[in-house]
Amino acid sequence: MLIKAKGIKKYYKKVRAVDGIDLEVRQGEILGLLGPNGAGKSTAISVLSSLIKPDEGDVFFKGESILKNPAAIRKAMGIVPQDVALYPDLSAAENLKFFGKLYGLRGEMLKTRIQEVLELLGLNGRAKDAVKNYSGGMKRRVNIGAALLHHPEVLIMDEPTVGIDPQSRSHILGTVKDLNKKGMTIIYTSHYMEEAEHLCHRIYVMDHGKIIASGTKEELKSLMAGDDLVLFRTDRVDEGFLKALRGNLKVKDVSQTDGNIILTVQKESDILSDIFEAASASRVKLKSLEVKTPTLEDVFLYLTGRGLRD
Ligand SMILES: Nc1ncnc2c1ncn2[C@@H]1O[C@H](COP(=O)(O)OP(=O)(O)O)[C@@H](O)[C@H]1O
Ligand SMILES: [Mg+2]
Repeated sequence: MLIKAKGIKKYYKKVRAVDGIDLEVRQGEILGLLGPNGAGKSTAISVLSSLIKPDEGDVFFKGESILKNPAAIRKAMGIVPQDVALYPDLSAAENLKFFGKLYGLRGEMLKTRIQEVLELLGLNGRAKDAVKNYSGGMKRRVNIGAALLHHPEVLIMDEPTVGIDPQSRSHILGTVKDLNKKGMTIIYTSHYMEEAEHLCHRIYVMDHGKIIASGTKEELKSLMAGDDLVLFRTDRVDEGFLKALRGNLKVKDVSQTDGNIILTVQKESDILSDIFEAASASRVKLKSLEVKTPTLEDVFLYLTGRGLRD
């Protein structure tokens, strides 16, 4: 096992940012850490990379405690933080030079690496422009470049596609896949389900500081294999109607998102007549109704009780 985190806790006063998590990172995988905003993802990876000390627990990098020996993991890791940290008046090449020096690169070696990284991230054409004139997506790519200069064994990316244009986004996702194919281990945090589905070999789902599910996407999907989802809209919100649904023995879960009511029911439970009866008893009008097989996104909604984009 490349990295093993055991019993990690990190509290900020009363906020349980990370509340007792265990996780493993395997050599050569893309590991997804997925969860809504505030789930504890950034805090968890800050502990993993020894940027902050946990209140409890430890992380083992190649079997060795990072509390005892933080230098080993720091050297092996490249970290792309959630917030872009660049010098706006410097060009991409100059920014990379600054970060390269921080990592101890010098001279020809540094020059070569800057060229390679600019190429990899598709920034060559604008390498000499001041970063302040870049789009959000281009800034983000420079940030990723900074984390790659020293050829890290493990790359940690914290929500690298938030708030950027679709073109930069697909460029970044493609880069992640390429780096991984060449052998780099990647830890990728996101609140976009479809990114994790596209990229990750394994996924940990976090919420409220805890890991609430883990596995391959197939394993996660199988959590709802026996279920159907019934989605419908009503003309108004009626507590009596919702209560009747929650009390129905065929209904495993009731949630609401984007004005839809979503019932999780056992497959082929012939729930529809119950819904019509409850609606008519509460004088609620059904506006639309759809029965569907759960997607991975639905599994997350079911697990976290809220949409990942809340
Ligand atoms: N430095 C800090 N001081 C106080 N509270 C914090 C700090 N960092 C994070 N938190 C809180 O811890 C929780 C988890 O935050 P974070 O790890 O940033 O989650 P995520 O990255 O999943 O959005 C949130 O409630 C956040 O407000
Ligand atoms: Mg975060």
